Amino acid sequence: MMIPPYRRCACSVFLSIALTGCSEAPATNVERGRRLLSQYHCGTCHVIPGVNGANGTFAVPLESFGLRSYIAGHIPNSEEHLVRWVMEPASLIPGTLMPNMGVTPADARDIAAYLLQLR
Ligand code: HEC
Repeated sequence: MMIPPYRRCACSVFLSIALTGCSEAPATNVERGRRLLSQYHCGTCHVIPGVNGANGTFAVPLESFGLRSYIAGHIPNSEEHLVRWVMEPASLIPGTLMPNMGVTPADARDIAAYLLQLR
């Protein structure tokens, strides 16, 4: 069945309002975290699902990280610990091979938000 022209028009106006609203909304922490993971080049060492270019095999893949009980096998996986790990891994595991990447506290929170929602 044909849709009358006036109906199609109303529909596309509604759609464009919905899409504009979407692109102007502030990015969520998770979305920002995804971009930061690629900006900080975490993917040179880690495979990280959903992050551009994150296909490094030097270190463990970070897939399903939100389901992990421990960070690096020793530190209970919580938001607080993960933020600290991302900023300064050696403060939790002295001598770890993961380098300090110079991540700021605000960036580390968003990176942790992204990693913790990976299922
Ligand atoms: C030079 C390579 C390298 C880079 C770059 C790197 N990491 Fe790592 N990462 C490691 C290594 C090695 C480990 C394992 C540490 C250990 O077991 O002591 C690790 C462990 C981790 C873990 C814990 C993984 C697990 O299975 O428990 C997380 C989370 C993590 N890295 C996040 C990041 C984030 C976020 C970045 C970017 C800010 C990053 N890494 C950049 C090498 C790297």
